[in-house]
Amino acid sequence: MAGTFISFEGPDGAGKTSVLRAIVARLQPVLGERLLLTREPGGTGNKIAEAIRDLVLDPANTEMDKKTEALLYAASRRQHLVQTILPALAADKVVITDRYVDSSIAYQGGGREIGTDAVTAINDFAIEGMMPTATVYLDIRPEVGLNRIQTTRQDEVNRLDVEALSFHQRVSEAYHALAAKDPERFLIIDAEQNLDAVIADTWAALAPVLDLKD
Ligand SMILES: Nc1ncnc2c1ncn2[C@@H]1O[C@H](COP(=O)(O)OP(=O)(O)OP(=O)(O)O)[C@@H](O)[C@H]1O
Ligand SMILES: [Mg+2]
Repeated sequence: MAGTFISFEGPDGAGKTSVLRAIVARLQPVLGERLLLTREPGGTGNKIAEAIRDLVLDPANTEMDKKTEALLYAASRRQHLVQTILPALAADKVVITDRYVDSSIAYQGGGREIGTDAVTAINDFAIEGMMPTATVYLDIRPEVGLNRIQTTRQDEVNRLDVEALSFHQRVSEAYHALAAKDPERFLIIDAEQNLDAVIADTWAALAPVLDLKD
């Protein structure tokens, strides 16, 4: 498979979307049409995956079973992979996704306590080994990330953001276990710094992966 596949991961409010915006602004002039930015759950321009996103993130869906939720995330990811990511990689593009399979293992496996092995297993069925070349992990204590969201994004707090702090601590622990298991793939960035410093560290970490200058 040609192309380069990169995911951004980290707890809520770590700065994934903010950092990606800056990285994409710098990459766009270099890569042009060769750059595809997408996100999960859902996927840029992916109707089926986005419909599943709306279902799982709807705060009104309080009766959703946690295994149903995990299966829906995996189903959405499968559609995103097959319809959006794989064709872009086949066309030699650089695909950057805001969240991917590590999010499911951390949130559903760790946070919701379904178990990381069980969530890994259903996702293995969905992704058939298609892992990112590199994963930028924005490392932040969960309470610091949540505090950012509460102070700046009160209007768009979703079903996962309102979980107890213990939920988010389990998410963070599961992420750290994944990073420890796969240290070559995980590019760990200190996300408690100011945004400019986080962006600079992320750019420096991605430079060798993307063969970038300066
Ligand atoms: N390094 C930083 N220092 C201070 N505030 C930040 C920093 N990075 C991001 N923020 C702010 O914190 C909030 C959360 O950032 P952002 O939405 O980028 O996080 P996220 O990781 O994408 O969160 P989510 O997982 O909920 O999508 C935003 O209001 C953003 O402006
Ligand atoms: Mg985000």
